[in-house]
Amino acid sequence: MEYFTLARVIHVLAVVLWIGGVSMITTVIIPAIKKFSDPKKRYETFEAIENTFALQAKITTTLTGLSGFYMLYVLDAWDRYTQVQFWWIHAMTLVWLLFTVVLFVLEPLILNKLFEKYSITHPEKTFVFLHRFHWVLLTLSVITIAGAVAGSHGWHWI
Ligand code: HEM
Repeated sequence: MEYFTLARVIHVLAVVLWIGGVSMITTVIIPAIKKFSDPKKRYETFEAIENTFALQAKITTTLTGLSGFYMLYVLDAWDRYTQVQFWWIHAMTLVWLLFTVVLFVLEPLILNKLFEKYSITHPEKTFVFLHRFHWVLLTLSVITIAGAVAGSHGWHWI
């Protein structure tokens, strides 16, 4: 059972570092960069920050997924996916899947090129969209964390 507790520790630490970073980007970095008047400087600064964070995010999402599936395996709790009161298990999996697809597939294949193009041709619209997208991800993540902490400590309100 110590391995289970270790997995929980890794899970929570990875989530803190990962979603903490998303919060910093959403609430501090994008608003600060939006104030730059030069679109090229905006693009270059954001790219430099996001590229540095992307590696950390890839590591922490991977650790979150591995530790999460390991806990489900040890608890033998796969049937939670069929029960509505465990909506927070669905939410965790959804948030993890969203970030995994964005970080490992969409960003390297499509989003980086689109961002480079549109941040120069349509700088305002691009940053408004980028900011909204980050707010959606952050909001979903925060609701998920609240639900997961409450749910895994026995508070089911459905
Ligand atoms: C594939 C993705 C994931 C799986 C399979 C997974 C699975 C789990 C499991 C099995 C638990 C323990 C439940 C229990 O003790 O009854 C847990 C706890 C938790 N998870 Fe996840 N999780 C995943 C992703 C995430 C994500 C993306 C977040 C955050 C956005 C997250 C945040 C949490 C939190 C905060 C806890 C509660 C820890 C505690 O209070 O002890 N998980 N997760």
